[in-house]
Amino acid sequence: MEKMLREIRERMLKNIEEAKASSSLEQIRVAALGKKGELTGLLRGMGKLPPEERPKMGQLVNDVRAALEAKLEERAAELAEREKQARLAAETIDVTLPGPERGAGSLHPMNIVLSKMVDIFVGMGYEVVDGPEVEYDHYNFELLNVPKNHPARDAQDTFYVEDNIVLRSQTSPVQARVMTTRKPPIRIISPGRVYRADEADATHSPVFHQMEGLVIDENITMGDLKGTLDEFARQMLGQGIQTRFRPSFFPFTEPSAEVDLTCANCKGAGCRMCKGTGWIEVLGAGMVNPKVLEMCGIDSTKYSGFAFGMGVERMTLLKYNIPNLRYLYENDLRFLTQYR
Ligand code: PHE
Repeated sequence: MEKMLREIRERMLKNIEEAKASSSLEQIRVAALGKKGELTGLLRGMGKLPPEERPKMGQLVNDVRAALEAKLEERAAELAEREKQARLAAETIDVTLPGPERGAGSLHPMNIVLSKMVDIFVGMGYEVVDGPEVEYDHYNFELLNVPKNHPARDAQDTFYVEDNIVLRSQTSPVQARVMTTRKPPIRIISPGRVYRADEADATHSPVFHQMEGLVIDENITMGDLKGTLDEFARQMLGQGIQTRFRPSFFPFTEPSAEVDLTCANCKGAGCRMCKGTGWIEVLGAGMVNPKVLEMCGIDSTKYSGFAFGMGVERMTLLKYNIPNLRYLYENDLRFLTQYR
């Protein structure tokens, strides 16, 4: 029995020494010291020994058990340390690697186009003037010669805040504000938000943007208006772009014109965008109605002027050949980041 004990001891110590992982140590422990382990089996068999040999053998078994337990513990500590080092090595972070790229922001295409529009007119000596979006009926309609019963005042077109206060339906009230507070010469543009009770679709939105222009001085003619818009169109959309004036009506201008620009997509040849005509309607314009000048306190026998208004959305769709207004409002980064 002593021999067997020695054999178990040597074999188990060797197994422990050679164990490669904490999990195999546990298997060895069970095989030696567990309920059905070899050492436990020997201990049970001691009942068959003569009584006088039992204490000695018991002592020997306990020695072996102690030796194995000590060895197990020592090896467990070693393996745990080694496993920890291996884990640390695997999880090492290289702090010198570059981080994930943060994309630079980009301007909204409408902001790009609006900046360009403003730049062109500032380059011609215009000043940018702001006006309120919640506006008196007086400026939005009255001073612009839109009489009380005019259909444009219908609540179906205009958002009313109160009886005499509206969300401005155009940027033209800024004209009225400037004319009533300043003396000519006047040369201003006024970009901003406007509101109309329209259903949103591919070409309409209840909130959109216009840019108004106004020039008042002595001897201002329709030729000045035409020349100004020609220059604007070329700087905005390219050298080959021309303007075409068609007779129209606005209460605050006389004469009035709808202004078409050469279709930038087909250069006037005719395409789907311009419905085959080669022209795209872009602006409203005209000579400031003398009645409006007088209502605003400007001597219409001495001064004349022109005004124009255009849609910023429309200009953006044209400039970038975008088929649907909704792209401008959906804030889809895949769309927006194409424009820089
Ligand atoms: N305010 C007009 C519109 O919204 C456009 C316009 C502005 C026309 C200035 C003439 C002069 O339709």
